[in-house]
Amino acid sequence: MKAFKFIAIVGLIATVGISCSTERATAVQNKAGVQLWGENCVRCHNTPSPASFNDADWSTIEMHMKVRANLTATESQKIFEFIRSAN
Ligand code: HEC
Repeated sequence: MKAFKFIAIVGLIATVGISCSTERATAVQNKAGVQLWGENCVRCHNTPSPASFNDADWSTIEMHMKVRANLTATESQKIFEFIRSAN
């Protein structure tokens, strides 16, 4: 019986942990590109204006900064879609 309780508690903790990380992932997914841009691109340098580069240059920069900023595919897609829509 004790072992059963232990397993039930461990299971509960694991479930809560998984749902928390899912919530965080959903929170990021719900953020707009412009918000992710404001939050991420100022961590290391001033955010260059979208107008500073053309679409082709931004695509190259995307590959470069996705790695530098350790962005997920979704984050970088949203950020650079926003930038290309605003230049
Ligand atoms: C972890 C730090 C870091 C973050 C976060 C970061 N950058 Fe950079 N960025 C750099 C560094 C360092 C350079 C200088 C070039 C190099 O050595 O990589 C740079 C250079 C650039 C340049 C100059 C062109 C180039 O490719 O070198 C642009 C434009 C740029 N970053 C845009 C962005 C955007 C947009 C974001 C947000 C998605 C971003 N950066 C996030 C570190 C960062």
